[in-house]
Amino acid sequence: MKRIGVLTGGGDAAGMNAALRAVVRTSWRHGAEVVGINKGWLGLAEGTYQTMSPGSVSGILQKGGTILRTFRYPQFATDAGAVPVGRTLKKLKLDGMVVIGGDGSFRGGTKLEKEFGIPCIGVPATIDNDIPGTDYSIGFDTALNIAIDAVDKVRDTATSHGRIFVIEVMGREYGLLAAQTAIATGAEEVLLPEIPWKIDEVCSRIADGYSRGKHHALIIVAEGAGKASYVSFEIKARLNRDVRMVVLGHVQRGGSPSGFDRILASRLGHHATELLFAGEHGIMVGVVANKIHTSPLEKKNKVAAKAVLKDARLMELLV
Ligand code: F6P
Repeated sequence: MKRIGVLTGGGDAAGMNAALRAVVRTSWRHGAEVVGINKGWLGLAEGTYQTMSPGSVSGILQKGGTILRTFRYPQFATDAGAVPVGRTLKKLKLDGMVVIGGDGSFRGGTKLEKEFGIPCIGVPATIDNDIPGTDYSIGFDTALNIAIDAVDKVRDTATSHGRIFVIEVMGREYGLLAAQTAIATGAEEVLLPEIPWKIDEVCSRIADGYSRGKHHALIIVAEGAGKASYVSFEIKARLNRDVRMVVLGHVQRGGSPSGFDRILASRLGHHATELLFAGEHGIMVGVVANKIHTSPLEKKNKVAAKAVLKDARLMELLV
């Protein structure tokens, strides 16, 4: 393998840079040239890329975001959207590609394999941690810690004022980030897309908490379970108490990666590249029970509610 491509796709996740650094430096040790595709799949269509060396990835390990940048390019799924990608690939003559991203990026990687014959390996990176075949995706731990820090701060003011706070946490269709935030902050309630909830029941539990002497109520809402604005409005209307709302949003995607994410990204980026040079492809490299684990790149649909429900018993601690 003489020429390896690497891109970051989908929503950025803290630790993508650390993974990129590992891919570039491991490829360099194998004597290969590395082409970094700028702007993810869109960049592959536009033909925007840069040659990378160990020096070009120095000082990025601790940086949030992705220095390669990323854009969503759903058009790649269509025949018309794939045409410019084909043009760029013809020019680049890549012997292999490492794709750092989520399930959408892995669909792109599968297309690269099947339609363009480029050996491809995936490295899971998304704050949602919704990719089957790995216990953790890069960025989840950092996002979780950002959410925990924010909720801890909100708790101080909530208690001081005796208020109810509805805090919306990211995670498009998957509530793991919200579930673990709630467990780690001792919130009163968590609303998840995987577990049906009723506003009247939520209100009666909150009212019960106040009658037991609580001085606040923290309600964590997963983005996919409902809008914080709706939940706040309904609670205020029913309980006639002071309710405030915080939408954490993209704050959770930024910032310096945690130690956990730096190590995870370095491990996964390194292993993925080693495997590519060993002739493997069409796989995603994850970590299961703290061991490197590979699974097919194809059909990485979102994990069902399973992982969230594993924590369901712990949610009994939220009262
Ligand atoms: O997939 C990661 C994620 O941060 C989700 O949690 C969120 O719903 C989505 O991306 C937001 O996407 P965008 O940045 O394109 O608005």
